[in-house]
Amino acid sequence: MRRKIIAANWKMNQTVADTESFLEDFRLEVEDVAGVDIVIAPPFTALAKLSELLGGSQKIRTAAQNMYYETSGAFTGEISAAMLRELYVKYVILGHSERRQIFGESDALINKKVITALESELRPILCVGETIEEREAGREREVLETQLRGSLAGVTAEQLVETVIAYEPVWAIGTGRTASTAQAQDCHAHVRAVLAELTDEATADKVRIQYGGSVKPGNAADLLSQPDIDGALVGGASLDPRSFAEIVRAGARE
Ligand code: PGA
Repeated sequence: MRRKIIAANWKMNQTVADTESFLEDFRLEVEDVAGVDIVIAPPFTALAKLSELLGGSQKIRTAAQNMYYETSGAFTGEISAAMLRELYVKYVILGHSERRQIFGESDALINKKVITALESELRPILCVGETIEEREAGREREVLETQLRGSLAGVTAEQLVETVIAYEPVWAIGTGRTASTAQAQDCHAHVRAVLAELTDEATADKVRIQYGGSVKPGNAADLLSQPDIDGALVGGASLDPRSFAEIVRAGARE
């Protein structure tokens, strides 16, 4: 039985002050919620405050939205794994489609980051997903396989269990257009089959695969009830404490 994991990806939103007021409201909303992993990925600037406010909470964990694979040095604007660990960060989102598309990240680069994260005891949330052109050409399975094989090269079975995969069809991100539950389940099952090829079935069965792309309180329960959907990576709807809490509650129920 895989425990559901619901993560907020705030992207380039929320100041330190916004983070404080969000957490105050959100904590009240999820006071009675149990049996689900809750993760919040604020911008780097709010990580320290979020960790401080959470005070080592097991219930809500902190994630970064990116990091660099080198340990230190002349890499202006970058953040290392050790810097995140110092702030009690537990997860790191890697290979988000905005990083791939806007900042030109390749599977080879993402792979280096995944390896460094795992070696630094940070759990990667590795994002994969096809564009609209790729889906219309019927290439989504092939694209997912290429991204998974490239980004997970050299990852052991033991490490894969620590990794979360986020399937995020690019055409569903921030567009209000969600994949149907059938489309999502189909891709999740395919992702799991590729993970089994990379390791073995028992390992692939343990890996949590989140769905991302316009997840909202209104569609979360349906998506999360699918056999291979083990959580959600939520952008827009995670900025509001009430709607994010509703999605978390759906995760606890399903
Ligand atoms: P969205 O973003 O929920 O706003 O579509 C999801 C994501 O990019 O992780």
